[in-house]
Amino acid sequence: MALMCGIVGYVGSGPVSARPLQVVMEGLQRLEYRGYDSAGVAVITDTGLQMAKKAGKLVNLASRLQDSPLEPGTAAIGHTRWATHGGPTDGNAHPHVHGDLAVIHNGIVENFATLKAELMEAGDEFASETDTEVVAHLLDRAYQETGDLTEAMRQVVVCLDGTFTLLAVHASQPSVVVGARHDSPLVVGLGDGENFLGSDVVAFIAHTNRAMELGQDEIVTITPTSVDVTDFAGRPAQAREYIVDWDAKAAEKGGFRSFMDKEIADEPQAVADTLLGRTDMAGSLVLDEIRIEESVLRAVTKIVVVACGTAAYAGHVAKYAIEHWCRIPVEVELAHEFRYRDPVVDERTLVVAISQSGETMDTLMAVRYAREQGSATLSIVNTHGSTIPRESDAVLYTHAGPEIAVASTKAFLAQITAAYLLGLYLAQLRGTLFPDEVAAKLVELRAMPDKVQTVLDRSDRVKQIARWMADTPTVLFLGRHVGYPVAMEGALKLKELAYIHAEGFAAGELKHGPIALIEPGQPVFVVVPSPRGRHSLHSKVVSNIQEIRARGARTLVIAEDGDEAVVPFADQVFRIPQCPTLLAPLLAVVPLQIFACELAHAKGLDVDQPRNLAKSVTVE
Ligand code: M6R
Repeated sequence: MALMCGIVGYVGSGPVSARPLQVVMEGLQRLEYRGYDSAGVAVITDTGLQMAKKAGKLVNLASRLQDSPLEPGTAAIGHTRWATHGGPTDGNAHPHVHGDLAVIHNGIVENFATLKAELMEAGDEFASETDTEVVAHLLDRAYQETGDLTEAMRQVVVCLDGTFTLLAVHASQPSVVVGARHDSPLVVGLGDGENFLGSDVVAFIAHTNRAMELGQDEIVTITPTSVDVTDFAGRPAQAREYIVDWDAKAAEKGGFRSFMDKEIADEPQAVADTLLGRTDMAGSLVLDEIRIEESVLRAVTKIVVVACGTAAYAGHVAKYAIEHWCRIPVEVELAHEFRYRDPVVDERTLVVAISQSGETMDTLMAVRYAREQGSATLSIVNTHGSTIPRESDAVLYTHAGPEIAVASTKAFLAQITAAYLLGLYLAQLRGTLFPDEVAAKLVELRAMPDKVQTVLDRSDRVKQIARWMADTPTVLFLGRHVGYPVAMEGALKLKELAYIHAEGFAAGELKHGPIALIEPGQPVFVVVPSPRGRHSLHSKVVSNIQEIRARGARTLVIAEDGDEAVVPFADQVFRIPQCPTLLAPLLAVVPLQIFACELAHAKGLDVDQPRNLAKSVTVE
């Protein structure tokens, strides 16, 4: 099975050339963040179908191709895999070939065992442990009957249960690539005398910024000069064309050591771009993308945020801001828990899904469930053309640009920014803040990109400490109020990047158990709230620092400029500029991201592609 993979397809006009393989290999390089257990390509050449695949990262495939090159071709498909069942071996890598046909797959064919048994009974033999090979056999049989790859795909997809994006080529149709999608992403790239397919636009952005969104359960056939989209029954379908508003440069490292370093450096821009163009001449917040009736939004009695991982922590920050500004109760639920516990949601609930990729299956399923219950659904998503916004009633796009590193950084800041915008919009609409209060908060928000930059400019010390701490076995993170999700995000970053045990706690919970973990030398990051403000929790968190210090902890404190109260109890203080309490996560999380990134570099780890992970989790 191949779950969260990168898929790319290309077809060009003219005689055979090296371009199809080049385009596909380059696309795979850009998509490798989606899975990196194995990779493979198939090319239609003058002498027929040629294929190469290799376990391990893409470099293994590249050197295999250097040792024994494939012939030039007219069309090609390529795949980078994140495996579950069927280990990451050469044999289980994609493409899977049967006869003159090759297929690649993202998703799970749940009924593959039944289909395989039927095929084996009919005499078929299998070379791999994957579900995908079954699809190759079925497609080849259907092709032999129909003589047409699109028709063959149509016949096969209706036999498959589960989730899939499939791309197939056949040696007898050298200028055709056929794709199909069901609950898994696939985007078309429109070229000039050539066309592309990809799991996302990153796959072909170096060649075209014209893209086309495919709907659920659609089949696409690309040739050098045409793109035909139909539903699974063969009826023509309308695919939406759009222009990608960033270029290939945005998806490159640009001289940084890693994508993660670059994406952290992009954070001021990500926040600024997410704020851009969202007010009218009078200074009122205008969120054109929110296509839910104002009367529905006014009547909302509860908001439920559904998301996973880092996006869920952005949701926790949203809860504090939205409840404070709008006086609407907000629940934050891990998307995979949400629909399995019979949640109380109805027509007066607004379900807000947060997702960088827009493809996280758990989050998508939560959105579908919420819609079935009659709730309005709004998504905060970074990736245009993805599934979650298409299936939500409204979308608020974050403008973080492509995020390639598996660990989410700039998307987190952009998600929080979009959540603030949503909160202020609802407050404006429901009258829980006066217009001048909304305007004042927007001014404060617009000051944040420069403040994020200031934190970045001060990153040398946190990097130095991270390098010194490369051997640390465990790190704890404490925070309170909006600092609590920041603490949890800091712990998640360290776990996924540096493989160090880390835990984030609400500082107030310390005395209820976690303080037992403190022993001499235990490093603890503490996110300290601003000492300013009427209901500041500052003094309580400073007491927490004293309590752990008294038990020998090494305290690494993130505190506002001018907060001298922390100094006597801190082994290290990392300063962030002053800002309103609710906006502070945009600043406080940055040193924690840098710390995890630097520590992973110091340990010689692959910062962009940590072990066992994939960027988009497109199965439940
Ligand atoms: O694409 P999404 O935002 O829906 O992804 C959600 C999580 O899988 C993601 O944030 C994950 O936790 C990252 N690895 C965190 O760095």
